[in-house]
Amino acid sequence: MKQEIETIQTDALAAIDAAGDEKSLDDARVAFLGKKGRLTVASAGMKDLSKEDKPVVGQLLNVARQAITSAIETKQTALADEADKKSVQGIDLTLPARSLPVGALHPITQVKDSAIQTLRRMGFALAEGPEIEDEFHCFDALNTPEDHPARNEKDTFYFDSGKLLRTHTSSVQIRTMEKATPPVRIIAPGSAYRRDEIDATHLSVFNQLEGLYVDTDVKLGDLKGTLEFFLRSMFGDDTEVRFRPHFFPFTEPSFEIDIKLHAKGQEPKWIEIAGCGMVDPAVFESLCETRGDDVFSPDKVTGFAFGMGIDRLAMIKWGIKDIRLLIENDVRFLKQFA
Ligand code: PHE
Repeated sequence: MKQEIETIQTDALAAIDAAGDEKSLDDARVAFLGKKGRLTVASAGMKDLSKEDKPVVGQLLNVARQAITSAIETKQTALADEADKKSVQGIDLTLPARSLPVGALHPITQVKDSAIQTLRRMGFALAEGPEIEDEFHCFDALNTPEDHPARNEKDTFYFDSGKLLRTHTSSVQIRTMEKATPPVRIIAPGSAYRRDEIDATHLSVFNQLEGLYVDTDVKLGDLKGTLEFFLRSMFGDDTEVRFRPHFFPFTEPSFEIDIKLHAKGQEPKWIEIAGCGMVDPAVFESLCETRGDDVFSPDKVTGFAFGMGIDRLAMIKWGIKDIRLLIENDVRFLKQFA
């Protein structure tokens, strides 16, 4: 029996040593240590041994089992190491890693953020209002008469309830002044909606930036200085800015602002980029009525307001010819601004 155990151990170690892969190593394990393996079968012979031999042979069997088990483990580690080495063969671990694509802010977001940053430095605080508005805040409180063309069903998206998608961010002027007390100095970036025919310069949803400054002694010169400073910080110190008389129901006097665009290979030309004006006293009067007090009485305060298209600012800044590029999410286009 002792002899037999030694033979089994020798054979086992030889088989383990010869195993070239996981599969043949496992075959060897089964052949010697498995349920019907040679060492297992030999152990079964213990029951026929005499009392004196049992402990001696038992110990031999244990030693053999341990030797075989540990040989298998050692071999397993060796095989795994070899496989690891093979798999990295030909790979240069000192090469720099492949870079992952990194996202970037959309051009509209970039322009909006820098506009907000500039205006905040000038003391304007952020304000907001709902995109689903009522006629009162979008039109009536802004001194816009019932028969004004902007209120037409052909220009404005109405819901059955009578609510509408705001056609401009000027509604935020009213919502802010309903709650605040002067002085008020806010900007309100946000979406506005119009039933426009979609083409290279129009979308039915676009981005605006509204501004409002109300205090005891706000003058037209403040409006002009603020907007000139703002536009020059956005487009460069030598940007030419022009104020053209215009009409808005809620400002008087009113202006459209143009800046002179010098596009490469093109004659410089004026393009309209914002509407603005001094808050119409009628707006303050209506506000006093809504609030039931007179802190915004036109006898006490004056103010200016402006509204500009953020998409328009981005198009001017980068010479983008078609506004639709800004909403198509074509990465080939957007990459240029990353
Ligand atoms: N709300 C106007 C528009 O959408 C712009 C504007 C805002 C004009 C504030 C004057 C004052 O065209």
